[in-house]
Amino acid sequence: MPELRVLLAHINDPNQSDISVYERNGGYQAIRKAITGISPADLTEMVKQSGLRGRGGAGFSTGMKWGFIPKTDQPKYLVCNCDESEPGTFKDRLLVEKDPHQLIEGMILTSYVIGAKLAFIYCRGEYFYAFKQLREAVRQARAKNYLGKNILGSPFSLEIVIHPGAGAYIAGEETALLNSLEGYRATPRLKPPFPAVAGLYNKPTIINNVETLCNVVHIVNRGVEWYQSIGKPKNTGTKIFQVSGQVQKPGCYEFALGVPLREVIEAAGGMFPGRKFKACYPGGSSCSVLNANDIDITMDFDALAARKSALGTASVIVMDDTADMVKVAHRLMQFYQNESCGKCTPCREGTRWVTQVLARIERGGGTFADLKVIEDVCSSMENNSFCPLAVGAAPPIVSAMKEFKPEFEAYIKRNPHADRLPPMPVSYPYLNTL
Ligand SMILES: Cc1cc2nc3c(=O)[nH]c(=O)nc-3n(C[C@H](O)[C@H](O)[C@H](O)COP(=O)(O)O)c2cc1C
Ligand code: SF4
Repeated sequence: MPELRVLLAHINDPNQSDISVYERNGGYQAIRKAITGISPADLTEMVKQSGLRGRGGAGFSTGMKWGFIPKTDQPKYLVCNCDESEPGTFKDRLLVEKDPHQLIEGMILTSYVIGAKLAFIYCRGEYFYAFKQLREAVRQARAKNYLGKNILGSPFSLEIVIHPGAGAYIAGEETALLNSLEGYRATPRLKPPFPAVAGLYNKPTIINNVETLCNVVHIVNRGVEWYQSIGKPKNTGTKIFQVSGQVQKPGCYEFALGVPLREVIEAAGGMFPGRKFKACYPGGSSCSVLNANDIDITMDFDALAARKSALGTASVIVMDDTADMVKVAHRLMQFYQNESCGKCTPCREGTRWVTQVLARIERGGGTFADLKVIEDVCSSMENNSFCPLAVGAAPPIVSAMKEFKPEFEAYIKRNPHADRLPPMPVSYPYLNTL
């Protein structure tokens, strides 16, 4: 299956971030079409029919989410989630750095649908260049009256505010993001109420990912049938796969959903000479690992869910036969330990506990009973935590232990007392050596 560039169609055009080049390439036609001829209700229905599912990780129907906005006249907000902090994820950065007007056009369309007069882009704090590009693009769009009062002579008005992120992975979780936008610490809120009912400043709010919003432009321009014809039933449209790890040409590659994993890896230059594909996390660091037998799995929401993994953000982290899965599991859990916001006990204590046990296994002091400890603590994190961060922290570790058990056992066998010792108590001073 060849690459199919829709969102990335003009990504290599020099100056695509300039509004005149964007317009020359067909930009800002979708908002003319929508504002002059499609009602917000019809546009919601179009997006529902297209089958577009959120590209921020959860894969929830975008049209359905928009439909949850109450039909009242209280203020409503759109928030674009550009926090992008999950290991392996770097597509939103490319989109906003190279083609920021595509996002702005998608945000204008979405704000028109939900009746928002104010929209926000929550942009990862470390993305300085993306922030600059967005600010300039908003300035250009306002100068041409694509933003501001009475857009293109219509009664619809919109302003976009760009807000720097708070420098934490958890700030990308939608309710933590809202807290951060309001000036509070980025910790998740209890759901329900969901943001569509009570979000930013307790008002109805839609939160969508950058890639999701960019898709809306193309659905309006080319129609629902065209969109439905790409990909698979219930998995329509294209997806930007971000391939990283042990491949020859890491980067972003756009394919129709349902492309086999093998072809995504081939597009990224394949494995290094003499090396074999061993494993990959297909949807970022928060999903279960795949092994060499999965190389022909199709990359879409449903096929990966059936394999008990996830498409997530389609961040394909590839490992070859030199990868050490114990080290991989340890490193990933360190990330989750660092990023746990500390609000709930299963995650705050569990991520630290599992990190310590994995460290012990890695340095040759593990016991066979440790494997059960890790499973139990991960199960507690998955089932008892307050927000999805910890729910996503467990599968990459538990699946690595299941798929590559002999590697964990080989480490444990280095300990002459592996069978006799009970799991060692976790010692706090040891934390300092991590
Ligand atoms: C810890 C954590 C971090 C997240 N980070 C992001 C992020 O950086 N960008 C994003 O779009 N969604 C992120 N999400 C998912 C959001 O909570 C939310 O589902 C998404 O922004 C909805 O947009 P969509 O419907 O367009 O996918 C994160 C979720 C969790 C639990
Ligand atoms: S699961 Fe982790 S990140 Fe989420 S609220 Fe609990 S401590 Fe915070």
